[in-house]
Amino acid sequence: MNHFLQLTDITRDQGQWLMVRAAELKRMQHRGEPHPTLAGKTLAMIFDKASTRTRVSFEVGMYQLGGHALFLHASTTQLGRGEPVEDSARVLSRMVDGVVIRTFGHDVVERFAAHASVPVINALTDWSHPCQILADVMTFEQHRGNISGKTVAWVGDGNNMAHSWINGASVFGYQLRLACPEGYLPDAGLMAQAKSEGASIELTQDPRVATDGADLVTTDVWASMGQEQEQAAREQAFVGFQVNGTLMALAKPTALFMHCLPAHRGEEVCAELMDGPQSVVWDEAENRLHAQKALLELILNQ
Ligand code: CP
Ligand code: NVA
Repeated sequence: MNHFLQLTDITRDQGQWLMVRAAELKRMQHRGEPHPTLAGKTLAMIFDKASTRTRVSFEVGMYQLGGHALFLHASTTQLGRGEPVEDSARVLSRMVDGVVIRTFGHDVVERFAAHASVPVINALTDWSHPCQILADVMTFEQHRGNISGKTVAWVGDGNNMAHSWINGASVFGYQLRLACPEGYLPDAGLMAQAKSEGASIELTQDPRVATDGADLVTTDVWASMGQEQEQAAREQAFVGFQVNGTLMALAKPTALFMHCLPAHRGEEVCAELMDGPQSVVWDEAENRLHAQKALLELILNQ
């Protein structure tokens, strides 16, 4: 693996290794044991969109691994003034050991990776958010054991998170049921490709069908970053897609609730569920740190 632009850039074995290593790194960090496996390594982090969890987890993660991370926002780099992505990739490759990018078009990350000679990690694009699924699978497995064969219900927008859950079904072997309203479906080609690779993926427009008997129920905001002007129209389109106690009651009694955050209580999730006993959203957020540290070891120690 050179780059981590999609979950399918890792093999099933690498996915398993990441989960084991992330749990070890979490134990070491909680015990206060130093683990400087990336001493002397540097990571450039380019952000064209807002972030709390992703930025902090990569930056703190690199520090804890003995390396250093540089936060580069579009507004203060030459990229923001129009320097070509390809030139920036060549230049940064001569100075740092890896690059993390959060941006709008997925093509930007692909073009950067094509011209970089160091590994590139997708930290969210309009198309996908693979790092989040590493933390989500880790969180499920820490609470409920192996996710392979379990049923994951996605309720909401067929967005970047939905796409990464689709890719994750091939790598981690869970059965995915997506409930999305008409007009907000995930990419049909991506679903077809995942199914052709053996992934178990079903699409419905009824959240109750997706949630019935599920082991994990997850959702995301109705309007993602860059779609703020569509908020009102999306609120109309997503009526009936809120994850709340009534919907959650259809899942297994042991089912967990996850949300990548930030969340809008009262829209895609009701406050009682988000803050209730089935919710593991804070573990999920913390596990961004541990899962990405394992990913950094895998990708920067090649
Ligand atoms: N879930 C997630 O990626 O959060 P941030 O936007 O805060 O990085
Ligand atoms: N779908 C959301 C995820 C945020 C982590 C967005 O792209 O804004």
